[in-house]
Amino acid sequence: MAIRPIITAPDDRLRQVSKPVASVDDGLRALMDDMLETMYDAPGIGLAAIQIGEPIRVIVMDIAGDEEEPAPQYFVNPEILDPAEEMNLHEEGCLSVPEFYEEVERPASCRVKYLDYDGKAQTLEAEGLLATCIQHEIDHLEGVLFIDHLSRLKRERILKKLKKEQRLAAAE
Ligand code: NI
Repeated sequence: MAIRPIITAPDDRLRQVSKPVASVDDGLRALMDDMLETMYDAPGIGLAAIQIGEPIRVIVMDIAGDEEEPAPQYFVNPEILDPAEEMNLHEEGCLSVPEFYEEVERPASCRVKYLDYDGKAQTLEAEGLLATCIQHEIDHLEGVLFIDHLSRLKRERILKKLKKEQRLAAAE
């Protein structure tokens, strides 16, 4: 396993639409292992493959609390089914938008169809933090960031600050 560098906004690579995975093999499992290690190291609760520069439809997540046992989840080719009409407001952050947290409104629950770590077809009922997190991560597969759900003013303010920080870091 290896920790891989995480791409941060406004990098254009984050805007790519990721391609479906043809088969879940050892190569893909090695990538998912790297993604999980990278996510834990950051630390974060979700990571899409595109965030480490791999434009394929793969997500890892672990929403277990600090006091709980680790509970890694792997989603290959995930699809949202039956998003609830009821909306939920939840504070979100993103490893590709470091240090910024904003409330985002999304369907409060949904079902998710996906392939697991072994390539087995699964369906999951998601609500609460799980629903928020999986929708946030699936957005990444479409090249969408959580800041795209904010007002244009807020989004541009965040992107401006990120660009400034990156300039300062590059100048060091
Ligand atoms: Ni994210």
